[in-house]
Amino acid sequence: LDKMGGINEQTFIAVKPDGVQRGLIGPIISRFENRGFKLVAIKMVVASKEHLEKHYSDLSDKPFFGGLVSYMASGAICAMVWEGRDVVKTGRAILGATKPSESSPGTIRGDYCIDVGRNVCHGSDAVESAQKEIALWFDKSEITSWKSAQQSWIY
Ligand code: PPS
Repeated sequence: LDKMGGINEQTFIAVKPDGVQRGLIGPIISRFENRGFKLVAIKMVVASKEHLEKHYSDLSDKPFFGGLVSYMASGAICAMVWEGRDVVKTGRAILGATKPSESSPGTIRGDYCIDVGRNVCHGSDAVESAQKEIALWFDKSEITSWKSAQQSWIY
């Protein structure tokens, strides 16, 4: 539980190669920070296809699987763990709908992209997949635990 009695969760958020190359790491981090979430792990990674095939293993029978893995392996990704109340669900809302034609203005995808195959960012879709993805991308020692020195009403 967090200080206000909410359920504290962690989620895996990644800025995809197109987002990194377009200079969108900063704006994406800002949206999570501004909302009140806490960044507990971050690193730049050029992931192998094998690693990405594991990450997207649930999608292996989709026609876009090969293209998705190649795109994600094509450059550096900014991998992050964000923490806070309901961060899995709220994080998905911050990212916006997967298909840019359905993502609302004001969301990351709704503001920054038009192509589902270049949709800037990834976020875990459930608490269980968040735990799996965090374990796949980060060693336990890379995930920090820190508290704000502010008053308790800052959560
Ligand atoms: S599905 O079909 O409902 O399971 O797919 P969805 O949950 O919407 O998306 C899962 C991830 O696949 C990516 N995706 C695509 N990539 C490339 N081309 C096409 N056509 C495509 N459709 C979906 C989508 O961005 C999701 O990736 P992440 O990294 O989770 O956002």
